[in-house]
Amino acid sequence: TTGANGGTSPHIQQLTEDMIDLTETISIKAEGRLLRENLVTRVQGILNTEWPKEAKIESFGSYASGLGTDDSDLDLVILPALPEQSQELVAPGRYQDLFILKTLFLRYSMKDVEVISGARVPILKFTDHKTGIKVDINYGQYAGLYNTRLIESYVRIDDRMRNFLYVLKAFVKSRGINSPALGSLSSYCYTLMAISYFQTLLVPVLPCLQDPHLIPHNVPNPGPYGRSTLINVAFTDPSRIRPCIPQNSMTLGELLIGFLEYYGSKFDYTKSCVSIRRGGVISRDRGSRLWTRHAFVVEDPFIPDLNVAGARQNMMNIVRHEFQAAVRALRDGRGLNAILTPKQPY
Ligand code: GTP
Ligand code: MG
Repeated sequence: TTGANGGTSPHIQQLTEDMIDLTETISIKAEGRLLRENLVTRVQGILNTEWPKEAKIESFGSYASGLGTDDSDLDLVILPALPEQSQELVAPGRYQDLFILKTLFLRYSMKDVEVISGARVPILKFTDHKTGIKVDINYGQYAGLYNTRLIESYVRIDDRMRNFLYVLKAFVKSRGINSPALGSLSSYCYTLMAISYFQTLLVPVLPCLQDPHLIPHNVPNPGPYGRSTLINVAFTDPSRIRPCIPQNSMTLGELLIGFLEYYGSKFDYTKSCVSIRRGGVISRDRGSRLWTRHAFVVEDPFIPDLNVAGARQNMMNIVRHEFQAAVRALRDGRGLNAILTPKQPY
């Protein structure tokens, strides 16, 4: 990719420019942000007037981390107003509250209100009747809040992260490999894969923010079947770390091709797990015993034993195939648009 003059070849330079332009086009605009801000306030208002418990609403996910698009959903979490109440709030049986909330939101004219209880974490889904924005609400999940802050912190460390993640999400969405409900990988999973790749480069773009020597910061988090556990969400504030030396000088275009090549053909799926908590990659022997039969493992940064990648072997073959095809297209100079051709989800 490096020409005789030491610079990047013209089509990779073009790719970098196109990645910056695409981010500009799809990133959330002031109006979209305002609509969501008002929606959060309205939901908080409904709870304040109708909900017997002192509860506050916080947003997390792509909107909260500044990585949203104008058609992003809104991920919300209901938390106790006083932290002391959190044990009670996430106690087993409290999920019943989601059904009470369902009735409440129906009364406030919200559309398509439903409780999804089959998922690992039960959620309430609805579509706002005023704006059409889709909302997911969960109950007491501190993990989402903290992993959003962790991702936000990594994005703050290096300017290339933000562009990279926008383009990666646009690519996996248009190629139909970003539908966890249909067996492929979530946006959250792709984000962790990107951070791990940036940590494991020969000249890293990102450090690891979860130093095992940090003083633990334990918060309650509901696990499967409504059981509550404590999870350690400590990580270093990025403003307190020194930049990686030597500095990685790869362009966005080179990083995108490098990432697709890495997970398309280089990563050893049978021997390795993705773990940003442990600096990028760990061997399967050091991972949870629960993962031996999983086709791909992406460890959650905060929840022990949780593999965020739920895809089976045949789906992973499809994902890798899509990555390899994208590498060929980009190397041939067919441009960013060539890898964004829409395809039905697999
Ligand atoms: P888009 O909605 O596609 O823009 O992406 P997003 O960044 O909002 O990601 P996604 O909707 O996949 O996830 C939203 C948030 O939910 C993430 O930032 C995580 O905090 C949380 N989340 C999603 N999937 C998981 C999971 O499997 N495990 C855990 N612990 N949290 C998850
Ligand atoms: Mg989301």
